[in-house]
Amino acid sequence: MIQRPRGTKDIYGKDELIYKLIFDSFEQLATTYNLKKIITPTFESYELFKKINGEQTDIVSKEIYRFTDQSSRELALKPEGTASIGRAIIENKLYLSKEYNKLYYIDSMYRYEKPQKGRLRQFYQIGVELINELCLNSILDSIVLANSFLKKIKIDEYVLYINNIGSSEERNQYIKSLKTYFSKFKNQLSEISQKRIDTNPLRILDDKTDSELEIVKNAPKIIDFLSNETKEEFSLLLSKLEKLNIDYKIDYSLVRGLDYYSNVVFEFVSTSSSLGSKNTLIGGGSYLDLTKTNDSFKINGVGFGIGVERIFEILKSKQDLYIPENKIDVFIIFENNSQYDQLQKIIYDLRFENITIEFNYKIKKFKKGLEDAFNSKSKIIIFQELNQHKTNNWTFKINNKNFEVNESEIKKTIMKYLFEN
Ligand code: HAM
Repeated sequence: MIQRPRGTKDIYGKDELIYKLIFDSFEQLATTYNLKKIITPTFESYELFKKINGEQTDIVSKEIYRFTDQSSRELALKPEGTASIGRAIIENKLYLSKEYNKLYYIDSMYRYEKPQKGRLRQFYQIGVELINELCLNSILDSIVLANSFLKKIKIDEYVLYINNIGSSEERNQYIKSLKTYFSKFKNQLSEISQKRIDTNPLRILDDKTDSELEIVKNAPKIIDFLSNETKEEFSLLLSKLEKLNIDYKIDYSLVRGLDYYSNVVFEFVSTSSSLGSKNTLIGGGSYLDLTKTNDSFKINGVGFGIGVERIFEILKSKQDLYIPENKIDVFIIFENNSQYDQLQKIIYDLRFENITIEFNYKIKKFKKGLEDAFNSKSKIIIFQELNQHKTNNWTFKINNKNFEVNESEIKKTIMKYLFEN
């Protein structure tokens, strides 16, 4: 039998309920921030990611699922969401309306990575982008939102790391010094990092393999290249976090693996044993010119991406996780075809009123049917006893007590019971 590709998974049963819990919890929170949902295509032109994420990033240079379609178009499966949001804002002129300045998305993303717990080749991200109002308050609001999400979903074992990677001028000075530094250690770096010395040495810092090298850990730090103004603004943000009792740690080596960031970057890193080693749950930051095109409009903003599988792994390992399940209201046992005919319309009407009804599609012996009904844990069980087959009466079994109801009263009795209980 053909198997699913490596790094993908089938999600069903309890696992699916945990995913639903994650999505629902976020969407509830998103409403309170007045965020609007946006859905973008699963694939985009490869050029988009090359331009916005950066050609030298791990994501584009090593991990992207790139393909050519039947008309020779160069396409790629979305490795992350922000690039698509940038494109959608320009393409649909969303910047003309305030209605679209706070967006979120829930999407599957694709990266050719080495699969492990919480790291897949197809994974879900919940993303947020607060567009065109970049300032301390919007940065703060995005960090608060990410933090609230973790609290709401009852995840406490994490550390918020935060850094400021400066403006593009400050970063350019930093990049110059990185070039000089890495040139001295060139032969200790991997082939791809050697190429990055000239093109984009920042990406050596977050290369999954080379970032573990001592020479990379000891590289110059951005803090020494920041202006007083940038440092003051950053302190102000940190003091606002303190006022809200949101703990953080400054990590001067945090640069994030994508080219579009400017100034504030942050990561919520799990310390839970259920994920094994250090694992980023949420990553984000601010950007000043997202699409870097010659469009008359430049997109600034701040946002983050939540790794749903990582949240999932933590929740799944919790003994006391409460997962709301869809409870069955009514189970009807059918023992012959004329019984189906009698109740079909009633079932149709009740489901229309949001009552959950289950019944056996195929005719069953009463004993088997009752077994299924008990297993379904439904609140009401309905069936006809032998002596009732010739009447229009049905038996209701509620909390192991039986009583008879005439067919004409079934709907009313169910509604009344469910309303009162
Ligand atoms: P990112 O750090 O590349 O940022 O991804 C965000 C989160 O997605 C990570 O922190 C991690 O939890 C999850 N993630 C990444 N790769 C995988 C994988 N292979 N398997 C499972 N989970 C994964 C971004 O994607 C940016 N677009 C975030 C952003 C939005 N920045 C500003 N706006």
